[in-house]
Amino acid sequence: MRPLYLRKVPNLFGIWVVPRKELSFRPNVGGGIFYLYKGEIDMKEMLEKIKSAAQAEILGISPEPEKAAAELENLRIKYLGKKGELTAVLRGMGALSAEERPLVGKIANEVREFIEEKIESAKAEIESAMSAQKLKEEKIDVTMPGKKNAAGRLHPTAQVLEEIKDIFIGLGFSIAEGPDVELDYYNFEALNIPKNHPARDTQDTFYINENTVLRTQTSPMQVRVMEKTQPPIRILAPGRVYRSDAVDATHSPVFHQVEGLVVDKGVTMADLKGTLDLFAKKLYGEETVTRFRPHHFPFTEPSAEMDIRCFSCGGKGCRLCKNEGWIEILGAGMVHPKVLKNCGIDHEVYSGFAFGIGLERIVMRRFDIRDLRLFFENDIRFLKQF
Ligand code: PHE
Repeated sequence: MRPLYLRKVPNLFGIWVVPRKELSFRPNVGGGIFYLYKGEIDMKEMLEKIKSAAQAEILGISPEPEKAAAELENLRIKYLGKKGELTAVLRGMGALSAEERPLVGKIANEVREFIEEKIESAKAEIESAMSAQKLKEEKIDVTMPGKKNAAGRLHPTAQVLEEIKDIFIGLGFSIAEGPDVELDYYNFEALNIPKNHPARDTQDTFYINENTVLRTQTSPMQVRVMEKTQPPIRILAPGRVYRSDAVDATHSPVFHQVEGLVVDKGVTMADLKGTLDLFAKKLYGEETVTRFRPHHFPFTEPSAEMDIRCFSCGGKGCRLCKNEGWIEILGAGMVHPKVLKNCGIDHEVYSGFAFGIGLERIVMRRFDIRDLRLFFENDIRFLKQF
């Protein structure tokens, strides 16, 4: 390349064009005009210095990929940034002569490209080092034994409830749900159980306050549904109920009932029996025999309890049926006209039947579970068996 022997140098007297050879690297040149240019550095040389300094610094970055990435970014700013060294040189190009400017410009561009390239390739190296490291850390050992996922399952009570729901949904019932914390009115009053009625004594009640209880039965759902819906009605209302019983093998303060309600024109006791007999056969098998015994509930008239012939001994008497040959399944009856009236349904036009199934008893017999407490203890060793 042609030596840059001319240079426009600002001095005290204005812009001078000075022969290059007289200027450069002759520190001993003394006196006269040249004194003014002492310390002026050849731009080409400056660029070369920047180039080698940058190269050295890029080579000297940290071996740790994360640190190196940050260092490289700093170097980029140091050399190529707006306030960087190379930019500073390029700014000074205005002082060059018209002949020098393209030459110095060319070199400056080459140096910039060189530094950019070095930084880029160093970056690429860091990135590949980082991904190699990541791959190493995340390596999957396909020979390691797998982790077994313990699959959960439905609680035995929930399993049987699903079956019962399926049977009644198949008969055209829909599912209704209501609150566990219930007004005295729905739990008792509207069901024809006034305050001071002896029937309240059979259901040891948790009172929240004078007007609010934990529901002792799912029957309040009869009232809630009838208040809102005009017949025909066919609903099934499963849920938790509460009675202040001491815990033992057959008693729990929390248990489950499944309420059923049918109201329509011309519904009779025959519909009640037919429906519940069919339910028993679906749940326990086609050969199941049912019987209905008279009973009393304040909110049904007439009332009955339904038994099935013991499926274990066939009626001869065994431990399961406590030697009775029959097993009680549910309480039921024709909806009392007073209850229909309380809910704004014309008892001259409509009639209906209702039933209440104690869920835990059915589940206990189904799986031969002898202690009710097991249902609520959530012991995985128990639950795993079903
Ligand atoms: N609710 C009653 C009980 O808890 C059962 C029942 C429901 C009886 C519906 C008749 C009709 O014992």
